[in-house]
Amino acid sequence: MSSPLRIGIIGAGGMLRYHSAGFLSAGAQIIAVADPNEAAAQKAAKTYNIPAAYGDVARMLKEQPDIDAVSIIVPNRYHAPLALQALKAGKHVFCEKPPALSAAEASQMCKAAAKAGRTLMFNFNNRARPEAFAMMDYIASGAVGTIQSCQAKWIRRTGIPGFGGWFTTRALSGGGPLIDLLHMIDLGLHFMGYPDPEYVLARTYDDFITDKSFKGPWGIPDVEKGVTDVESAAHGFISFKTGQSLSFQVSWAEMNKREEVSVTFQGTKAGGLVQRLFGSDGLDNTALDACELYVQENGRSVNRSIVVPPDETMGRTRSATNFVRTIAGTEAPLNTPEQALRLMRIIDAAYASARTGKPQKC
Ligand SMILES: NC(=O)c1ccc[n+]([C@@H]2O[C@H](COP(=O)([O-])OP(=O)(O)OC[C@H]3O[C@@H](n4cnc5c(N)ncnc54)[C@H](O)[C@@H]3O)[C@@H](O)[C@H]2O)c1
Repeated sequence: MSSPLRIGIIGAGGMLRYHSAGFLSAGAQIIAVADPNEAAAQKAAKTYNIPAAYGDVARMLKEQPDIDAVSIIVPNRYHAPLALQALKAGKHVFCEKPPALSAAEASQMCKAAAKAGRTLMFNFNNRARPEAFAMMDYIASGAVGTIQSCQAKWIRRTGIPGFGGWFTTRALSGGGPLIDLLHMIDLGLHFMGYPDPEYVLARTYDDFITDKSFKGPWGIPDVEKGVTDVESAAHGFISFKTGQSLSFQVSWAEMNKREEVSVTFQGTKAGGLVQRLFGSDGLDNTALDACELYVQENGRSVNRSIVVPPDETMGRTRSATNFVRTIAGTEAPLNTPEQALRLMRIIDAAYASARTGKPQKC
């Protein structure tokens, strides 16, 4: 492997700025960018000082043989095929979430990474938030005990990321908030030790999914006559072979008071919470962050508030840094392909349960 790590970007969309900042801060070089929208690739090359821009991924991989790793930042439908293409070409892969559209695709990606002997990681950026690192320190020290139960939430009131674009087109996204906002389910699993799931019972709802008054302040432009065939909210319960359990609530559009992103858990020695309550207009000065532990000490209930530095990127930059450091061998990976596969088994089972109305075996 060359030193420093040379990275090719696949997809010049909204998330590139975080990937770029994270890679550069870890000492990597970004040497090329490809996007079928060649103008977008060229614009990104200019903005981020990337020496080469392509309108075709295969051409980039062919003409830039020095690329050691690629970063996949494209609509979900293309995660698996592009990761397989890059792994086959011998590249390490950092891929945006969700890992793929299904567990079957995620399984192919895991096998391809093992066969190629290359690193495959996903951008579960919430694991790289200061709050998550702090909480993991407490969990690793044994202070929390076994986490028996956990509640994961990413709930919005008016947060549909555009109508008719790839986010709301199931064939391109794999689904609505259940697959898009899977971050907190992942973070809860991370805290719990990523136990093997056994059953999932879930319901999805599509109220408000075509109501323009539920559009979020972010996302992609609306596509007139585009498809909108995904859920607007999902609720569910996962039981694990270990006896642990996790319940979740995710929504783009639902009658909630404010946007909340949180994991709460109950351990045998302590409970805990990592939470961001967004402000009325996203991350304004009414937003509230919390990282807390709940213990019994000297016969009293004690709430510990853990102070961490703010990270407005929600770990997005730090997560990309971890990918580079993992390949360099200076940090442990924040996530593994096997965990991504477990997560996709849960997502598949949740959608199947919502379709059938019955609990699904994972
Ligand atoms: N981790 C996070 O916090 C976070 C936040 C937002 C989006 N995302 C994820 O990032 C990914 C991209 O989202 P975005 O908001 O940047 O989307 P976007 O629509 O802004 O950009 C996607 C880009 O990919 C390009 N593209 C499409 N198909 C391609 C292909 N086959 N090969 C190369 N490029 C292709 C498009 O032309 C576009 O420029 C999605 O998977 C999304 O789920 C993650």
